[in-house]
Amino acid sequence: MTIILGIESSCDETGVGIVDLADDGGMTLLADEVASSVEQHARFGGVVPEVASRAHLEAMVPSMRRAVDTAGIALSDVDAIAVTCGPGLAGALLVGVAAAKAYAAALDVPLYGVNHLPGHVAADTLEHGALPAPCLALLVSGGHTQLLRVDDLATKITEVGSTIDDAAGEAYDKVARILGLPYPGGPPIDKAAARGDAQAIRFPRGLTGPRDARFDFSFSGLKTAVARWVEGRERDGEPVPVDDVAASFQEAVADVLTAKAVRAATELGIGTMIVSGGVAANSRLSGLARARCAKAGIELRVPRPRLCTDNGAMIAALGAHLVASGVRPSSLDLSADPALPVSTVSV
Ligand code: KG4
Ligand code: ZN
Repeated sequence: MTIILGIESSCDETGVGIVDLADDGGMTLLADEVASSVEQHARFGGVVPEVASRAHLEAMVPSMRRAVDTAGIALSDVDAIAVTCGPGLAGALLVGVAAAKAYAAALDVPLYGVNHLPGHVAADTLEHGALPAPCLALLVSGGHTQLLRVDDLATKITEVGSTIDDAAGEAYDKVARILGLPYPGGPPIDKAAARGDAQAIRFPRGLTGPRDARFDFSFSGLKTAVARWVEGRERDGEPVPVDDVAASFQEAVADVLTAKAVRAATELGIGTMIVSGGVAANSRLSGLARARCAKAGIELRVPRPRLCTDNGAMIAALGAHLVASGVRPSSLDLSADPALPVSTVSV
């Protein structure tokens, strides 16, 4: 058995996960500790990088201790360390990378600097086992909206499409602010939408015209359309039907994401789709993805919500894939790369 410890600090979650890699490649999740600074950012309506970095500094060692205790191991049992080195907030990434280097040097174990985005895909292997090749991953979070073709999680990931402006989660957060709902906006909009009529307002579906980039996304026009619609009501002295606006906005997001993802899988001849990232927790997105994948004959895999949002377990899982694939470790002069391209799985 090989114990891999993963460290995540790219945004506002300090995550430490521990995975046991068996000789046959099977993985067992032993610990998944997450300390979030989201409440410290709520009053600003978005993540404040300096606040996030400081919170990581404070949470790193306690999270590490809790993970080791939960796993029932000693730090000296750890065989390899994986850490997110990008993409993400520079100062936040640096805290994780510095901690990982220190632990790797002190324990004299190999260090793997890994890409956060394939980490979200690796999270699903903890719940549903090895991935068939190829598969298509739809990553939807506060910072990213991407379609990835995954031929080999350890070595070959290709971007098929991505957002040209706002991420899907960012659109949720901005629309929540317009509607006077708290940050982060995903959960309150999801809840309000359940009470509203998704057909009440026909909001625009970005980049779905015949000449638009086939697999790219755009959510900034949708956010502006919601803002203009709400302003119009207020100008007319009419009440804003928050639940209907939330449901109609949510329908537009889920419609575009699932339509493009299913079209990509069909056109590329890929039979398995994974949806991950914080927005994968959205009830309408997962429901519509399930219905459209079933109709198109595509197998759909969505990890449980805890594994969809940022965590250290997904980084440990990706590290375990690298170890199992014999990928060479990173050097100890590894640095954080806030703009690490998705095709670079490890550095
Ligand atoms: O993956 P994540 O935890 O962090 C990163 O951004 O990497 O994703 C956070 C995003 C936020 O924008 C939040 O509003 C959104 O995920 N989110 C949701 C839901 N839960 C979280 N969006 C829609 N519906 C939800 N139920
Ligand atoms: Zn993420």
